[in-house]
Amino acid sequence: MKIKDYLQKAKKGNWAVGQFNFSTLEQLKAIIQAVEKLNSPVILGTSEGESRFVGLKQAVTLVDSYRQDKNLALFLNLDHGKSFDYIEKAIDAGYDGVHFDGSGFDFEENIRTSKKIVEYAHKKGVLVEGEINPILGTSRVLEKIPEASQKDLTDPKQAFRFIRETKVDSLAVNIGSFHGIETTGKSPVIDFNRLKEIKGQTSDKFLVLHGGSGIADKDIKEVIAQGIVKINVNTELRIAYTNALKQVLKNKPLETTPYKLMPEVVSIVSKIVEAKIKLFGSDNKT
Ligand code: 13P
Repeated sequence: MKIKDYLQKAKKGNWAVGQFNFSTLEQLKAIIQAVEKLNSPVILGTSEGESRFVGLKQAVTLVDSYRQDKNLALFLNLDHGKSFDYIEKAIDAGYDGVHFDGSGFDFEENIRTSKKIVEYAHKKGVLVEGEINPILGTSRVLEKIPEASQKDLTDPKQAFRFIRETKVDSLAVNIGSFHGIETTGKSPVIDFNRLKEIKGQTSDKFLVLHGGSGIADKDIKEVIAQGIVKINVNTELRIAYTNALKQVLKNKPLETTPYKLMPEVVSIVSKIVEAKIKLFGSDNKT
């Protein structure tokens, strides 16, 4: 089955596929461990920065090797690709999906570029996620998140037109979530009414929630019930990885063998992925 088939299955069954980002082999191993344990499809995400660090071809080869070796439902998505050129490179390298974040362009330019990307991607069977309004923040601990005002949120009518003209397969919606976690731990206020309206205008497409870290579990369940079929998570995994590594190094000051230091880190990150998979209801769905 392809990525689209799983998103379709999720849509019918009212659950969501998690996208978990990685930039190191240990993070990837942690995600794979959770997937193996829970028989869940997952999307592995790399932002432009993460994919530059890993290498586009190397990310494809790594994911392919796990997919084939262990017969897992793994898919690789470029997260927040900002230009046609970089997205073209990811598609040529063998990514299964690409997210074009054209939210920095004016709306008409976003439509034009998204359309061009869709034409190129669809010829190669690659799924395209579009974005209209920027989802604020970055995937890290943040002192303060700028509150999204009404005009930052996705407008349902604009979403309808964007999808009709570009033919993107899915849309990253801004319904109040943000990338990162605020130091206060404050969770974002999700605009469920807006989600309902967007869903009404875009029912044949897949809706994606970015900024999956730090959202209350009950809100995650509610957005899934209302039609979100893909949820992106990065910050919580980054924090777990970094804190675990710091702790392990502190506990074992004389240990210098990476493969002896890292399993504990992998296991801690994996537990978080497991919890998200269960929360999204994607366990035992392969
Ligand atoms: P978080 O870092 O808030 O989990 O968001 C991740 C994301 O949306 C990647 O596109």
